[in-house]
Amino acid sequence: MKIFLIGMMSCGKSSIGKELSKSIEFPFLDIDEMLIHSTGISIKEIFQKRGEEYFRHIESESLKKIQGHGVISCGGGIVLAKENRNHLKNNGHTIYLESSLSILEKRLSNDNYNNRPLIDYKNIKKSLETIYEKRKSLFFECANDTINTDNKSLSEICKTIIKNIKIEKV
Ligand code: S3P
Repeated sequence: MKIFLIGMMSCGKSSIGKELSKSIEFPFLDIDEMLIHSTGISIKEIFQKRGEEYFRHIESESLKKIQGHGVISCGGGIVLAKENRNHLKNNGHTIYLESSLSILEKRLSNDNYNNRPLIDYKNIKKSLETIYEKRKSLFFECANDTINTDNKSLSEICKTIIKNIKIEKV
């Protein structure tokens, strides 16, 4: 069973994914990390040197390559491609980690490395609003479950996830 975590940038997909994978003893995979590993450069550099289209291509290829059971943290833009949305719907249990934009904005303003190429760090609020507007319905389209993470601890979120789904190690 693959548990895919989707949601906006900085909603906690990686930290929740790591905690969840420990609790249920599943391997943890982060698609952005797979891309960093396979290209040998950072996500920001992939965007700068090869462009977003190339990034989206290798992101889809990596999603399709994942084998076996695991908790998979997906990049925020995974839902943009129909092909990926179908993959999420047909190959596992997809959880949308919903967060309010003000919380995401606060987190991103503490992101000292300005690591997310699609965010204009001079106007984080506007960037998030524009991105969310385009993706909101796509997150809901793919999700088997939606969990609002605002003001919840990692362990509370993981407990809710575990309660909601029947975990199968296949
Ligand atoms: C992106 C989100 C990032 C990363 C890339 C593009 C997006 O991942 O894949 O910068 O389009 O929302 P996180 O959601 O883990 O930040």
